[in-house]
Amino acid sequence: MENRELIERAKEAMSYAYAPYSHFQVGAALLTKDGRVFTGCNVENATYGATSCAERTAVGKAVSEGAREFQKIAIAASSGAYAAPCGICRQVLSEFMPEGEVVLWSDTEGEKVFSVRDLLPFGFRGEDIK
Ligand code: THU
Repeated sequence: MENRELIERAKEAMSYAYAPYSHFQVGAALLTKDGRVFTGCNVENATYGATSCAERTAVGKAVSEGAREFQKIAIAASSGAYAAPCGICRQVLSEFMPEGEVVLWSDTEGEKVFSVRDLLPFGFRGEDIK
């Protein structure tokens, strides 16, 4: 699937964001290696720390439906500017798509693509647990 199509799915998902505290809506669209798409939005909470970012919502939906292998994730935000994944999301993405790509969208600058590896160099890995 082309990046532009995945970005459109992320934008659609953004419209479902539950963001009454930050008013910052984020959408994500996660592409599996076998071509399925799982979307997610941010889901905030009155205890702010319980908030789920759009990326982790998408990963949780996918894994809970049996999908575990992903190629890329597109992310769009209501600011119209690039929204880079937070540190926790980078760790979660590297668990399931260490070889994957992150496609960010800006209304003015277009798409920008990063590898998960570049976004989280020398991250903690399952192999490190002994
Ligand atoms: N947020 C995401 O969903 N993904 C990101 O990549 C950055 C931040 C959310 C969390 C919170 O609901 C709001 O954006 C402001 O931080």
